[in-house]
Amino acid sequence: MKMISQRVKDISYAIREIAAVASEVAKSGKKIYHLNIGDPVIYDFKMPNYISQALADASFNGKNYYVDSLGAPELREGISKSLKKSYNINVNSEDVLVTSGVTEAIFFLIASLLENKKELLIPGPSYPLYINYAKFFDGVPVEYELDETNNWDPNIDDLRKKINDKTQAILICSPNNPTGVMYSEKMIKEIIDLAGEYNLIIFSDEIYDQITYEKPFTCPANLSKDVPLIGLNGFSKSHLATGWRLGYMYYHDPENKLAELKANVAKLARARLSASSIAQYAAVEILKNPGTHTKEMVSKLKERRDYSYTRLRKIEGITCVKPNGAFYLFPKIDLNEFKKWKDDKEFTIDLLKTTGICGVYGSGFGEYGKNHFRLTFLPRVDILKEVYNSLEDFLSKTN
Ligand SMILES: Cc1ncc(COP(=O)(O)O)c(C=O)c1O
Repeated sequence: MKMISQRVKDISYAIREIAAVASEVAKSGKKIYHLNIGDPVIYDFKMPNYISQALADASFNGKNYYVDSLGAPELREGISKSLKKSYNINVNSEDVLVTSGVTEAIFFLIASLLENKKELLIPGPSYPLYINYAKFFDGVPVEYELDETNNWDPNIDDLRKKINDKTQAILICSPNNPTGVMYSEKMIKEIIDLAGEYNLIIFSDEIYDQITYEKPFTCPANLSKDVPLIGLNGFSKSHLATGWRLGYMYYHDPENKLAELKANVAKLARARLSASSIAQYAAVEILKNPGTHTKEMVSKLKERRDYSYTRLRKIEGITCVKPNGAFYLFPKIDLNEFKKWKDDKEFTIDLLKTTGICGVYGSGFGEYGKNHFRLTFLPRVDILKEVYNSLEDFLSKTN
């Protein structure tokens, strides 16, 4: 028998791992409420026909080949124009690299920058992929605190303290997964200034840029002037195309400090041939005609966010910051009040087994996620009503 590498054994992804427990629970006939996975497509949000048609057309028109490893030129051009139009940032098409989702972009960047325990500063709580890939490539993910008492805004003193000569980059994720909250513009500026002071790169995960409720997304590249920044985005969430696996990264690098990184990331991209060609040609059509589906989704989500937040606030022993972006709530559970559970994982699994509500335990999002759990607010309000009635009932029977 071959030995399995330790780096693969060490991978942990709570969002999917809880789904395995849910499948076991479902075997007993219990109805499962899947509030664990951030995929709008499995609810009542559907990609418009003209986009599905564009995907089919790409295939019928014979575009089923390995496309340029860096991305179809038309798509790179379209992304460059759309960045200019949406956020007034100047990125040439050669500064865009098309990837198989933001997931692959994160993989490329971390693989290219980390080794020998070099460090990546990531938000805490954190999207688990950053932690996994940093460790996988023998780097160290270092979490800087997002301060729950200050609307989950980054704690800049904590961030500053954690910079040292091993630090390579600072990752920003706003709107954030798992908190659902956007960083304030002031904090984004401060983080960029800090990166400038210490000669660090900013990675900006912008996958939720179009899913905001009260105020529009602040684009960090607009604030970064000469500080090199790599933006990560894609079609999964805003265009209801999670299964297409299509994303991109763009280099905002006015002083050309990232030339070496860019050349080496391109080598990695060539080694994997290309991202999906037909998805890329269909995405060209999306950028030409962005449609109204994203706005419609956000308006439905706002109602679901408001409903969920109002219900959560009324539950004793639970507190929650109101999310202003993405589609997650990240409530805190007072484990001193509910003595039944020793930690957030035990609580989340008991909740799932007893009520069928499948959330994700907060410690799956790193150290700062402890004592929390994450719920999406993607389902319809009538389903959310069942969820919150049941959650309320479950907790009231506990004390
Ligand atoms: C913050 C964040 N980044 C990246 C991703 C993955 O995006 P993609 O589907 O483009 O790989 C997700 C998915 O949930 C996410 O929440």
